[in-house]
Amino acid sequence: MGNIIDGKALSQAVKDEVRDEVPQLEAKYGRKPCLVVIIVGENPASQVYVRNKVKAAAYTGMGSELIELPADISEEALLAKIRQLNEDPAVDGILVQLPLPKHIDEEKVIDTIAREKDVDGFHPGNVANLWLGKDCIVPCTPAGVMRMLDTIGVELKGKNAVVVGRSNIVGKPMAKLLLDRHATVTIAHSRTADLGAVCRTADVLVVAVGKAGLVTGDMVKPGAVVIDVGMNRNAEGKLCGDVDYASASQVASWITPVPGGVGPMTIAMLMKNTIHCFVSRMEKKA
Ligand code: GUN
Repeated sequence: MGNIIDGKALSQAVKDEVRDEVPQLEAKYGRKPCLVVIIVGENPASQVYVRNKVKAAAYTGMGSELIELPADISEEALLAKIRQLNEDPAVDGILVQLPLPKHIDEEKVIDTIAREKDVDGFHPGNVANLWLGKDCIVPCTPAGVMRMLDTIGVELKGKNAVVVGRSNIVGKPMAKLLLDRHATVTIAHSRTADLGAVCRTADVLVVAVGKAGLVTGDMVKPGAVVIDVGMNRNAEGKLCGDVDYASASQVASWITPVPGGVGPMTIAMLMKNTIHCFVSRMEKKA
């Protein structure tokens, strides 16, 4: 039976690190970091996520603001709001919760957020710097996964890592972070011919597709570390991941649960990213 990686406890530890750091930053730079979270429309899942993000910011003692905009706001009005926040010296981090309503071009929104305030790490400048190995904001979810792997002390050098999923938010940056640690990385996806065979090569298996029960225990190499980034609702409306926990946990050495695994880590790493943006801006001014 695999050991459980407790994302809830670990995220608490990360948030406590930030909470300890905020007063020191305030003493050094004369003000606290400030995160602004924007939500457009009433997607219920997104509403829960953004509330949790603002709640976490309040817990750490940093400043935060939630801006709720109507679903029918024009693209131009949203971009104007972002530009205004870009110019506001009191704002360090800007996060626009995705997905956005269909009439708004997400790419334009991401491109408009000032790179130095892009706490999600989605801006092309941050993506480029990640792939070039330069200083950048690392997207929160893959950063949270790395923190989990570091906490359990798994050696990545020379190991086979398989990332299932190729999204810009998780799969692609996840693969790069594992590559940076000298793992041999394979990116699998919905069109991978024999997903089971590819997954069975993995010493570290990260699944981020958004399909409940996609990875079953027979697809897991005995002793592998299994990280489940999925967040789905099953037929009974219960939250579940992409990995069939019951069977996979019999085979894995370590496994993340859903809920209480990667999800809370994403929010904790957002706090870290906000501090990163704050310090970078403050140091540039000095
Ligand atoms: N929607 C799902 N995950 C994320 C995330 O990490 N950031 C933003 N902005 N939207 C999301």
